[in-house]
Amino acid sequence: MNKKKTIMEFNQMAGENQKIVYLTAYDYLTAKYQERAGVDMILVGDSLGMVVYGYPTTFPVTMEDMIRHTAAVRRGAPNTFIVGDMPYMSYQPSDEDAVRNAGRFVAEAGADCVKLEGAGPAICSRIRAINEAGILVMAHIGLTPQFAGQIGGYKAQGRSGEAAIKLVEQAKAVEKAGACSILVEGVPAIVGREITSRAEVPILGIGAGSFTHGQLLIYADMVGLYDDFFPKFVKKYADAGKSLHEAFSAYCAEVRSGAFPIDAEHAYKISDAEAEKFMEMLGA
Ligand code: KIV
Repeated sequence: MNKKKTIMEFNQMAGENQKIVYLTAYDYLTAKYQERAGVDMILVGDSLGMVVYGYPTTFPVTMEDMIRHTAAVRRGAPNTFIVGDMPYMSYQPSDEDAVRNAGRFVAEAGADCVKLEGAGPAICSRIRAINEAGILVMAHIGLTPQFAGQIGGYKAQGRSGEAAIKLVEQAKAVEKAGACSILVEGVPAIVGREITSRAEVPILGIGAGSFTHGQLLIYADMVGLYDDFFPKFVKKYADAGKSLHEAFSAYCAEVRSGAFPIDAEHAYKISDAEAEKFMEMLGA
């Protein structure tokens, strides 16, 4: 049985150059398989908007959605460190909103940490407030979908010298505000490397190269389930979409042809005597 890792252990892993394994999950079953496989940390990302609900963006995701799915993931992975992703407008309006909603992730869903996007002065204030309320908070910089309008869409960040320096400064700013860890998304490997080498907290990367202390992927991408688009940085470890398609197609064919079910294999049994009695009672 896995033992849930603490933030101190993640700090130690980062210090010892031991990679932290991080995946998203949104439901009980996926979380159960991830915990069995030994994943260190699970993010219940607001990417569930696309992966689970089929929205084109993360903007419509609500606190109620996040609480419901985080609680399901906690039930599936009771011994894994779980990060709840703060959805759009759950923390942007004020420090009070941020603390109240971060508290809901812990109290109602059993999260160990919350994650929020951005690094400006207002976001640093939210990180400080959540941290002072005693809740672990992971910052998220680089490609931050909740700020898509301001960063020019869903595209890699830090691709000029100036933009890359700004990301290094942002990492320092959120660290100083009290982030226990930083997720860096969608930046060139050299930028991931320089942020990591200057960091005093674990740096997790998604599309940020190989130098970060840990790696995150969206599980539905890496098992080949989500095929609306396929980011450049994803490696496909399974073709679950193909397996599902084959299974569903075979079921359609067998039900239509009568090949499924076979009563001797897939139906409940009744003794011959009871079957006879039943038919007699029917008058058959
Ligand atoms: O919501 C999510 O899954 C995320 C990752 C894409 C970083 O925030």
